[in-house]
Amino acid sequence: MDLSEFLMVEHSEIRVIVNTGFLNKVDNFKTFTEFLLADHINIEENIYFPIMVDNDWNDKEEFKKIVERVKNDHKLIETLAKNIIKWKDNGNDNLFNLRLPLFYKTLEDHNNYEEDHIFSRWLLLEQGIRQNAMADALSIVQELDDKYLIFSGLSINFKQYMRKHYF
Ligand SMILES: [Fe+2]
Ligand SMILES: [Fe+2]
Repeated sequence: MDLSEFLMVEHSEIRVIVNTGFLNKVDNFKTFTEFLLADHINIEENIYFPIMVDNDWNDKEEFKKIVERVKNDHKLIETLAKNIIKWKDNGNDNLFNLRLPLFYKTLEDHNNYEEDHIFSRWLLLEQGIRQNAMADALSIVQELDDKYLIFSGLSINFKQYMRKHYF
């Protein structure tokens, strides 16, 4: 598995989990937001995107703008999530319930956009670069609390398997 596949597996898990209603409980929503920032967005912003932006694409400047747009989405998603938690904590259930669908839609559109405009280029990079990136991402995953596994869809066995494969 390479890093694009890994991130798309997480996107798949996110697509499923938002439709189960599991995140409508604020405690689950909080843990999900932590997972999103510590794992998924962290890997994208600190490992995946820097490598992609560094590559010598024909449309390098245009591509940089695409990545900037996606990074701005991350800020928006983070702010929205923090507000949603704040509204619930302040007893504003109406706003919490009203804004959750917006959060899901924003996240879903964002993930689809990444797959369309960024992830599709990954296989054009050299294999060695892609493999190192996966190893770096796994270092982040290894450090994460197992309580996040439910959101990534990964099992402990999967983590151990990937570790053996890449180190
Ligand atoms: Fe993202
Ligand atoms: Fe993503």
